[in-house]
Parts: sequence; C-alpha cells; structure tokens
Amino acid sequence: MMIIVWVVVALLVAFALVNVYWRYASRRGSHPCPSWLAWTLEGRFVAWWTATERTLDRIGLRPGQRVLEVGPGPGRLLIPAAARVGPAGQVVGLDVQQGMIDRLLRRTAGAANLTAVLGNAERMELATSSFDVVYLAAVLGEIPDRAAALAECFRVLRPGGRLSITEIAGDPHFQSRSTVRRLAEGAGFRQSEVLGRWYSFTANFAKPA
Ligand SMILES: C[S@@+](CC[C@H](N)C(=O)[O-])C[C@H]1O[C@@H](n2cnc3c(N)ncnc32)[C@H](O)[C@@H]1O
Repeated sequence: MMIIVWVVVALLVAFALVNVYWRYASRRGSHPCPSWLAWTLEGRFVAWWTATERTLDRIGLRPGQRVLEVGPGPGRLLIPAAARVGPAGQVVGLDVQQGMIDRLLRRTAGAANLTAVLGNAERMELATSSFDVVYLAAVLGEIPDRAAALAECFRVLRPGGRLSITEIAGDPHFQSRSTVRRLAEGAGFRQSEVLGRWYSFTANFAKPA
C-alpha cells in the first residue's frame, strides 16, 4: 500500500516540476503544447470540462463576423465558432505548429467558412484591420513575446473590434487576470469586461474606434 502512495506522490511531484519548468522555459523560447498531445483537447468530456460553449458565449460571437483564433490547436473552440458565425461569417485559425493545423483540417473537412493557416502570433501574415474579433484561449502564456503577439492582435483587428482572452487554471501557462489586463492595455486595448472567476475567466477588450 505504501509503495502505491509513494508512486502517486512521485508522479504528482514530477507533473508539478514539468509544469513549472515548461512555464518558465516558454519565456525564453517557443515551447507550445506539442501536437502529439492534441487529443487531450478533443472530445465531449474535454468540451464539458473546459466549458467550450460557455467560453464561446463569453467571447460573444455573432453571425456574419470575421473571426481569428490565435492558437486554435485541433479546433476545440474554432469548429463550434464556425457554426456560430454561420455561412455569412468567416473564422481563421492561426497556429505555429503544422501538426495542429493538419489535425484541425482533418476534423473540419467541408467547413466552407473555416480556414487554418500556419504562422506565429508574434508576426502574423494577415491583413491589417481585417477581423471583427480576435480571441486566444490557453495560448498567451505559450508565446515567448506576449507583447509582440498582442500588438499583432491590435493591428489585425478593425477599430472597435474585440480581443478576447480566456485562461484556465491548471494550464501550465496560465496567466492571471491582472497580467492579461496589463499586457492587453500595453498593446492599446481597453478592458470592457471580465467574465468568470479568477481560475477560469474570459477578459474582453476593445480596440478604440
Ligand atoms: C494549449 S493549446 C490551446 C488550443 C485551443 N486554443 C484550446 O483552447 O483548445 C495552445 C495552442 O497554441 C499554439 N501556439 C503556441 N504558441 C503559438 C504562437 N506563437 N503562435 C501561434 N500559435 C501558437 C500551439 O501550437 C497550440 O496549438
């Protein structure tokens, strides 16, 4: 019995150490969630656990909007987001890993209003003022130069457009509400609302018109 307890404790300590190392390594270089772990972001249980539909409610998508998700992974949010904006809207996912893009495209074959592009949030090859909404979920802390990424979000949003940032505690790259606010305001955004609690929240910002 004691041996089982020690094995569990050792696994928990190892998990915590990997989390801490990964979090701080990401400040120095790009260490995104590897695409072989994409399966951990898929399925009904994950959608329920991470409150996918509630997050989309909080982001506030409407039919006809042109929307960018930075770091969509395999599309936990982007695929239902495409349904929300409807055929008159368009969603684009920009991810730094080809493996994530491939997985996303395999899961979305046939969605005419969804595009996935390979690219880095720190220097997006996307047109200025071309989106109504830009959102990030469980991504900001993975980006080494978060200020550059938010400056790019500012550039690609139209004046009056919305930036939405969702963070979920337990993610090794979790960013607090105050950090998110400081970084977004540093890029020129104005905070309009924060929905949820400190451990799972969506902070919405406006690009001044
Ligand atoms: C933890 S996953 C989150 C996926 C999705 N947003 C979700 O909530 O299910 C983080 C994603 O961000 C992507 N990512 C990390 N750094 C990035 C960067 N600099 N530019 C674009 N995407 C990035 C990773 O490749 C990965 O797909």
